[in-house]
Amino acid sequence: MNAFEKLHIHHEKLINTIKSLAHRAEENPADTSLLLSYCNEFLVSHAEAEEVTLYTADDDTNFVNDMIHEHKEIKHSLDVIDAAFSRGEILGLITEINNFMALLNNHFQEEENTLMPRISKKMSEQELESLIAEAHQIESEKKKADVWSLFEYDHKRIDLNISQMQNSKGNVDKIKKYYSKIRSQLLKHIELEETLLFTSFGEHATPDQMGPVQVMIAEHREIASYISTPADRLDEAALSSIPTRSELVSKLAVHNKKEELILYPMINRTLPRRERENVFKESFEQLTKV
Ligand SMILES: [Fe+2]
Ligand SMILES: [Fe+2]
Ligand SMILES: [Fe+2]
Ligand SMILES: [Fe+2]
Repeated sequence: MNAFEKLHIHHEKLINTIKSLAHRAEENPADTSLLLSYCNEFLVSHAEAEEVTLYTADDDTNFVNDMIHEHKEIKHSLDVIDAAFSRGEILGLITEINNFMALLNNHFQEEENTLMPRISKKMSEQELESLIAEAHQIESEKKKADVWSLFEYDHKRIDLNISQMQNSKGNVDKIKKYYSKIRSQLLKHIELEETLLFTSFGEHATPDQMGPVQVMIAEHREIASYISTPADRLDEAALSSIPTRSELVSKLAVHNKKEELILYPMINRTLPRRERENVFKESFEQLTKV
């Protein structure tokens, strides 16, 4: 496989993963958390690396400036998606995801059909090989391995599903569907924190840094107790009453804020990069399964 083909495969993987995550977010708006986490980690670093490697190898300055401008538009579109997601504006969210995919598709086409053929024509196979190796190197250094935002987006995912469930008052089938999602996502979130995020942190934390972790773990038991019964074992009356019960919502709000303001930032600062990368990768994979 030559360098050009390798880059093509890398691009394909990025665009196909983003396409499937965008599709998933359109079907289940709460899953926008996955799209945003993936793009912030893998797409933003990809674009930053290109600008200082591949793009500098092209002689058409206007074209390159346009491509860099497109990166800015793509990044801006991600910010718009993020804002709509955080506010729970589902219509705006879906419109912007469509816009984002159109921008991204067009941009990838230009790179594949115009930029890459032109660069590979003027460079030797070896030069191209080392340029792409450099791009990959920079891309991996630019990845933020931001476990804080990964887990914070997951809070928002669950919050949005909760508010969708509350809006389904009176519709038992919908309540059941959302309750099942919330239950499996929340249990997975807690499991990932306790077996991966907090455990890795524990290997590098000082004893007093572990205090807040113990508090969070105790709160998890209480949170889990609100969702201990699977949806299938709840009768219609029990399901109908869920949207009006607010204990879970208020408990989660306080718990999540403590993690987002204190614990996650501390973990991001304390965990060595390599470990954050592992936690990010493993957690992201697990989160896509629920
Ligand atoms: Fe690009
Ligand atoms: Fe690219
Ligand atoms: Fe937690
Ligand atoms: Fe959490």
